[in-house]
Amino acid sequence: MNILIVLAHPKPASFNHAIATCVRDALLAAGHQVTLRDLCAEGFDANFSADELARGNIAPPQVREHADAVLAADGIIVVHPNWWAQPPAILKGWLDRVLRPGEAYRFGTNDKGEGCVIGQLKAKAALVFTTSNTPREAELALYGDPLDNLWKRCIWGFCGIERVERRNFEPVIASTPALREQWLADAALMATTVFA
Ligand SMILES: Cc1cc2nc3c(=O)[nH]c(=O)nc-3n(C[C@H](O)[C@H](O)[C@H](O)COP(=O)(O)O)c2cc1C
Repeated sequence: MNILIVLAHPKPASFNHAIATCVRDALLAAGHQVTLRDLCAEGFDANFSADELARGNIAPPQVREHADAVLAADGIIVVHPNWWAQPPAILKGWLDRVLRPGEAYRFGTNDKGEGCVIGQLKAKAALVFTTSNTPREAELALYGDPLDNLWKRCIWGFCGIERVERRNFEPVIASTPALREQWLADAALMATTVFA
C-alpha cells in the first residue's frame, strides 16, 4: 500500500519523531511504500492567506504537492502531540490548506434531496498517534478527549475514510525509557495491523 505519514513536532529528539520513524520502518519492512512528511523540518507554511483563499482551486506548489500525496494515499497516518487539546498550529494549517473542497470532500445531496457532505479520499484507513501528559481518566472526565472526535468525525470521517483508529500515549512526562519502548512497539504493531 501507498502510505503517507504526516508528522507535526518541532523537536527531532521528541517522542513524536520516534513514533513516526518507528512506524515508517515497520511499514517499510512489511513491504509498503511509505512517505514521511515532517512538516516542521520542511517548513510547511501554515498560513492560509487571503490571496490563496481567493484563488480557489489553484493551489500553490507546496500545497499542491501535499494535496496530491493525500489523494494518492491508500492509508494515512498522523503523528502529533496534544497541544491545548488540538494539533500544533502547523498541522492545523496543513489541514486548512491541503484538504481541499472538491478534492478531499465535496457537497452534494442525499436520497431525500438534502444537502450533505461527500467524502472523496480514496484511503480506506487512517491512523492517528497522539501524545500528551494528562492522565487518561482526567482527559476523559475533564475534557472529553476532543482529539478523538476531531480526527474520527470532523476530519477523516468527513473526508470519507471509513476506518479511523487512534492511539494516545500518556503521560509522556512520567514515562520510563522501557515504557516508551513498549509504546513504540505498540505503535508499530498497530500500523502493520491496520495496514495489513
Ligand atoms: C504548547 C503546548 C500545549 C500543551 N497542551 C497540552 C494539553 O492540552 N494536554 C496535555 O495533556 N498535554 C499538553 N501538552 C504536553 C504535550 O502534549 C507533551 O509535552 C507531548 O505530548 C510530549 O511528547 P514529545 O516528547 O514528543 O514532545 C502541551 C505542550 C505544549 C508545548
